[in-house]
Amino acid sequence: MRKRYTLAFGIVALASLAACSGDKSTPLGPDKSSAPIPAAKLTVSANQAGGGGDDGPVPTLAQLSPELFTPRCTLCHVGDTAPAGLLLDADNIASTLVGVSSVERPDLQLVVPGRPEQSYLFMKLRGDSDIVGQQMPLVGPHFNLTELGKVRRWIAKGAPIE
Ligand code: HEC
Repeated sequence: MRKRYTLAFGIVALASLAACSGDKSTPLGPDKSSAPIPAAKLTVSANQAGGGGDDGPVPTLAQLSPELFTPRCTLCHVGDTAPAGLLLDADNIASTLVGVSSVERPDLQLVVPGRPEQSYLFMKLRGDSDIVGQQMPLVGPHFNLTELGKVRRWIAKGAPIE
């Protein structure tokens, strides 16, 4: 009987030890993976993916135009009937984005060099909740993380044309 009691006590002691070490690891462990973090991680990867980081050459509009904008946007954003008057064809894109006010959100510019988070073009491509109208492109696949990363990095690095 006495032996049993000791054993039971031992188990309780072990259990509380385990609980204790669990508590100790909490600040570094489980807390970090609680609800808000996955969203933060997603933002980080959207920001970093495909050249969103600080390494490698800075994308220029001269590269992004034939790679992303001409094929994915000029079905609509060209000529007299371009939605919101926004011309994204190779001849006009350089003069219609950088420092130009949005029609839908006149309080914002389409591209603010150095500030992707304040650039309405980037907000439309990412589908932010406070955009007017739809996420762009209106038809065809939305930009993936790599493509968003390129546009973000282009803007963050000053939105160079060439
Ligand atoms: C199928 C037609 C279509 C395609 C393709 C398309 N758009 Fe649009 N775009 C529209 C329409 C219609 C609007 C206005 C209504 C809306 O925003 O939902 C618009 C509005 C915009 C605006 C807002 C302009 C402003 O001044 O506020 C931006 C920015 C934009 N598009 C960017 C793009 C980009 C970048 C692409 C290519 C990646 C693209 N769009 C592809 C039809 C299109």
